[in-house]
Amino acid sequence: MPHRALCPGSFDPVTNGHLDVIERTSALFEQVFVTIFFNTVKVPLFAPEERMDLLRQATAHLPNVVVDGATGLLAQYAQAHEIGVVVRGLRAVSDFEYEFAMAEMNKQVYGELETLFMMARPPHSYLSSTLVREVAQWGGDVRGFVPDCVARALQQRFGGEPR
Ligand code: PNS
Repeated sequence: MPHRALCPGSFDPVTNGHLDVIERTSALFEQVFVTIFFNTVKVPLFAPEERMDLLRQATAHLPNVVVDGATGLLAQYAQAHEIGVVVRGLRAVSDFEYEFAMAEMNKQVYGELETLFMMARPPHSYLSSTLVREVAQWGGDVRGFVPDCVARALQQRFGGEPR
């Protein structure tokens, strides 16, 4: 039985929605790899090391979570790390088509890999890193949407009132 799960993403930056899925996954599996795939975002806001650092701070309370970074195919990464399950959050029906295609493609590459979907909880169902970046960029308050360390990093990046 799989005891290791993978929560993959771009995490540019990690949001409270990501964190909710990571926390719920960490309660279900012995070990959870939270892995940033760096080949996905063309022009990221945060550099790879910054994203890893923010993710480490945000998950410091979860002892069975390992934060990692990778390039290349998710399915190959899962196979190399003996991970049997990918967990992805689903926010709305609009996520479904992309996630469905990705889950099937990953299974084509590594046949033993299963993808499980976790419904985003209502407070996070509209949240995305893209919208958080945009709100922060134009001086909006993002403290309700992201972990404190990320709010501080965004404030340093874009300026605005000290909080
Ligand atoms: O947070 P995101 O941007 O929705 O995460 C997307 C991610 C990282 C899960 C996806 O782009 C991915 O798996 N990238 C690794 C490369 C890969 O395996 N691509 C083929 C997937 S079918």
